[in-house]
Amino acid sequence: MSESRKAELHYDGKKYEIPVTVGSENEHALDISKLRSESGLITIDRGFKNTGSTKSAITFLNGEEGILRYRGYSIEELAEKSNFLEVSYLLIYGELPSKTQLDDFVNEITSHTLVHEDVKAILDGFPSRSHPMGVLSSLVSSLTAFYPKSLDPNRSLDEINGTIIRLIAKLPTLAAWSFKNRMRQPIMYPKNKLNYTSNFLHMMFGLPTTETEINPVIASALDKLLILHADHEQNCSAATVRIVGSSHASLYASISAGIAALWGPLHGGANQAVIEMLEEMKDSGGDVEKYISRAKDKNDSFRLMGFGHRVYKNFDPRATIIKKAADDVLDQLGIKDPVLDLAKKLEEVVLKDEYFKTRGLYPNVDFYSGIIYRALGIPTDMFTVMFALGRLPGWIAQWKEMRETTEPIGRPRQVYTGENLRSYSDINKR
Ligand code: SDX
Repeated sequence: MSESRKAELHYDGKKYEIPVTVGSENEHALDISKLRSESGLITIDRGFKNTGSTKSAITFLNGEEGILRYRGYSIEELAEKSNFLEVSYLLIYGELPSKTQLDDFVNEITSHTLVHEDVKAILDGFPSRSHPMGVLSSLVSSLTAFYPKSLDPNRSLDEINGTIIRLIAKLPTLAAWSFKNRMRQPIMYPKNKLNYTSNFLHMMFGLPTTETEINPVIASALDKLLILHADHEQNCSAATVRIVGSSHASLYASISAGIAALWGPLHGGANQAVIEMLEEMKDSGGDVEKYISRAKDKNDSFRLMGFGHRVYKNFDPRATIIKKAADDVLDQLGIKDPVLDLAKKLEEVVLKDEYFKTRGLYPNVDFYSGIIYRALGIPTDMFTVMFALGRLPGWIAQWKEMRETTEPIGRPRQVYTGENLRSYSDINKR
């Protein structure tokens, strides 16, 4: 990256030189790290829409051209040719593994899928109507109790690798157990002869009384979905993981915070909200125009869930792949889902509508993913848990990069707009 380019700021009769950082994909950024000390000025940017928080070598995306790459590899190629654990290795360690490296990685993960039996006591404390995302975030944070050495902020990155393996190994178990708790069904223990996604499906849908049949179509579709969700540079939850980790909080605590941030309906919670919106549309007669009008009405807080994106102002490349996968999975499973038909009708109408076109509002990753999860038999309020399962290696990679590059604690500035100095008044005189 070249830092030789500069910008000039002229303010209040003075001139300030601002270095320009240029990234490996020719992105240019004003480096304002000395702006306040030299000029007394800060910048303000609600929602950080124009503000880079870091330099990162993990994921590149171009919102105008619909490009998404993990460590330089296109999402299209990885979704077609790779598998989730290999992509996890790539994101976390920076290179595609050799066969030996991948076998060792998979074996390490397989041997850590069990969680401490005391986790069951924590799980039993949750009422059956508990949303699985709240349970999952709590259970991940509780892992600090079982692995107290993970709290040491001075642990070597080698020691942290044990936590990385445990998280990747145990999140499917905790996720499935959160679901079983929700259903008040007996939990299922991991069956380590199964691969990652099949083991998860076994723990989700298996029952102690029957041998779980894993449909390879479902396992393969799930693996592709996890790859497509694995990272997305500085999205809300990844930025949360990085800023929590920047205080040298443990990786477990940082991932727990990331799960909480992902839960929101404007972020990962959108995949649940999309299906709920489509089902409401279907149940009220399928009048998509009515909902599109509501979405355009500034006096109506309703938004078309699954549409729009902070970065993609063109199609979200993941949505394109997931839309085709949805068709394939439903065909292979022989499922006719009227909600998928409605989703396609909604997309067709929206993409012709000037309001959405002028704002670059296209279907995002969450628009079609819920349709596949439904076809796989996964209940709606587990959809965002599926997103978290996929995003885990990305969060870990972002946290590891933040710690390896010794980023300072994240602490944004502000512009104060409150009262100026005033004196305390006696309560009887107010
Ligand atoms: C994810 O960041 C990531 O990378 C996230 C993610 C990842 O992989 O981590 O990609 C995953 O979170 C995908 C997004 C899932 N969320 C939804 O589908 C919720 C619905 N979408 C929106 O709420 C919205 O589009 C956001 C939150 C995704 C983005 O919002 P921004 O970037 O803050 O944009 P904005 O709210 O300022 O909207 C710009 C304009 C506004 O209209 P005007 O003020 O210009 O008149 O577009 C309108 C908005 O009202 N708009 C919508 C809309 N999204 C934006 N209008 C109707 N329906 C929508 N969905």
